[in-house]
Amino acid sequence: MRVLLLNGPNLNLLGTRRPDVYGSTTLVELESMFAAWADELGIDEVGAFQSNHEGALIDRLHAARGHVDGVVFNPGAFTHSSYALHDAIEAVEIPTVEVHISNVEEREEWRRRSVVRPACVYTIYGRGTDGYRWGLRHLVARSRRPVETIRYGPANSQRGDLRLPVSPGPHPLVVLIHGGFWRHMWTADTTELIADDLTARGLATFNIEYRRVGDGGGGTRTVDDVIAAIEAVLRHPDVDAGRWAVLGHSAGGQLALLGAKHFAGRGQSPRLVVPMGAVTDLRMAISNSIGAGAAAEFVGDEPVAALSPVESVPIGASILVAHGVDDDRVPVTQGEAFVNSARSAGDTVDTFLEDGIGHFDFLEPNRHAWTTVAAAIGEALIS
Ligand code: DQA
Repeated sequence: MRVLLLNGPNLNLLGTRRPDVYGSTTLVELESMFAAWADELGIDEVGAFQSNHEGALIDRLHAARGHVDGVVFNPGAFTHSSYALHDAIEAVEIPTVEVHISNVEEREEWRRRSVVRPACVYTIYGRGTDGYRWGLRHLVARSRRPVETIRYGPANSQRGDLRLPVSPGPHPLVVLIHGGFWRHMWTADTTELIADDLTARGLATFNIEYRRVGDGGGGTRTVDDVIAAIEAVLRHPDVDAGRWAVLGHSAGGQLALLGAKHFAGRGQSPRLVVPMGAVTDLRMAISNSIGAGAAAEFVGDEPVAALSPVESVPIGASILVAHGVDDDRVPVTQGEAFVNSARSAGDTVDTFLEDGIGHFDFLEPNRHAWTTVAAAIGEALIS
């Protein structure tokens, strides 16, 4: 796979331009980090180009045609105005991920509009310079196997990607729920590589998007989205609705547990629920201000108890609580609190709580944290 990193106007000033918004990483540093990330992801070839000129960016895209399999592109302010760049991306037919370092949805109104977006395969914003790495991962994931996108509601975020093994179905299923503190800039791209890995292990996977805070969701609306997504996929003819599991990373773990409880209550229990690095005690999350106030924003004016897994036990399904002791985003005390409350309510709970594991290790297919979880899911579903 060959990937091109493109940066538009003013991004040559990275490091000194508004470091409060764009951080302190320079363009030279970013380009070398990008090459290292690509190497880690098994990408064979990377190129990088920056220009302040619209025509030069268009020429570079034209030259990439037939030589590059994916583009990670931050068009800078051209994002908001350049129909010519939109047309160039569309014309060269190279899958292009639009990346913005800053949270363009929460700055000036005019930054919310992207004219290049319809020509791009994905958009990532508000994740700092790490966004370029997530962009690369998305290109890798989408090159692996085709997905069937299932819409379970009218909103753009009410959808999920179904990946199926090549053998004939129906297949056991894993529903994946991404994290990101229920905030709109974190999307289902984060769990794509592990979804692909599970499908390579012979399982159907449904990697869902859902409405988040700032995207029409929050509280019960988000939980209801998860339930509707699972209902939709369990009706799919290639899915064995009697053999399914659900996993959630970070805030997605909270959603996985509440979703599992709903189905267990209807006699359609998943065989396994896996909260990984999950936010499971919302009261504790609010008082510790985990994720800079994210839990409070998610709960809004709803009662906390109904949204907090520790207060929603028993879940009524087997649970594997996976949490890194060195998680610096969601402390392991969250996982431990849930283990105690679920066990005292009578749930069957296994644990994978290990030193040396951080928050994002569960999303990397080759790391021990993930392979341990994947093996447990395989055991629960393929037997
Ligand atoms: C940007 C956001 C644009 O609005 C701005 O004009 C840029 C950088 C970003 O990376 O956040 O130059 O694309």
